[in-house]
Amino acid sequence: MNPRRFVRNRVLPLRTLALLVALAPAVAVGYPGGTPDYQTDVTPFCATCHASLDEDALEGAPGGRAVKETAAQKHLAAVLSGAENYSELAEADRGKLVELIKAVDANADIQIEFPPQVAAGETFQVTARLVGGSGPVVGVALVDRPHRWFARSAATAGWKIVGAPTVIGPNGRPQSSWLARRPERFERNVSYVNVTDWKSQAESGQWAKGKVIFTLTAPDSPGDYPLVGVYWYGTEKAIPLSTRANPVYGDQPLGGYTGKSGRVKFSEAHVITVK
Ligand code: HEC
Repeated sequence: MNPRRFVRNRVLPLRTLALLVALAPAVAVGYPGGTPDYQTDVTPFCATCHASLDEDALEGAPGGRAVKETAAQKHLAAVLSGAENYSELAEADRGKLVELIKAVDANADIQIEFPPQVAAGETFQVTARLVGGSGPVVGVALVDRPHRWFARSAATAGWKIVGAPTVIGPNGRPQSSWLARRPERFERNVSYVNVTDWKSQAESGQWAKGKVIFTLTAPDSPGDYPLVGVYWYGTEKAIPLSTRANPVYGDQPLGGYTGKSGRVKFSEAHVITVK
């Protein structure tokens, strides 16, 4: 069931609504709204509802899955045909919405920067630069390959994450509240974080920007080691046509909690030479 849609439709008996509100702290967490609760090494397989931007992201997956998971098939086709919640919009608006969603995707990006070459055992910085995506938060991680089902965290490729990542929000200031939810005694050297206070607007072409600086120690043995950035973002909440205010959960995507408006995008598949 989809509690958000129930609340929006206002068809609930008061008692059920009261129960939902009581449960809100438990169910309000997650996905649209990012992952307020998982301060750990998240990898992209979790994002089953999200769509990919190209087939390579699920290369080799059985059953034509790589094609089915593309935004065009999984998300935009539903918008255009007026399926489920999208039936609220007239055909012309659905066409307009698809163009705006495409603009969100075309302008959302993750780039990672690092020294061209590092010495074995050297400690260095990797900066993940993020742009676009709807917010109110976005997610970023370092992994070993650009694949939604087979990527593993960067640490398994031999990179040691040292200390807590530095998160710089769209206002240029450091953020610490998301990472602070992980108890200090467990150490905060995680390879996944949320960047909060994120807001993009597709109609005016305003795309939020932020960055996350990870400190890594290179493996002890020379060789070539892979490093890839992953970007989790939403699309619909960057567009008024597909944003619905919800009294309990705040702004929600028109496609709903189980909608397919989230994305997983990978950076280029980099290889760093360790000398
Ligand atoms: C039940 C379906 C579902 C699953 C599973 C899911 N997401 Fe999402 N997620 C969404 C939807 C829908 C949006 C898009 C909101 C929009 O279009 O604005 C989204 C958006 C996001 C965003 C951006 C925040 C926002 O509100 O737009 C992040 C970050 C994110 N998801 C991370 C994850 C991660 C990490 C996982 C795995 C732990 C995950 N998601 C699994 C449905 C899901």
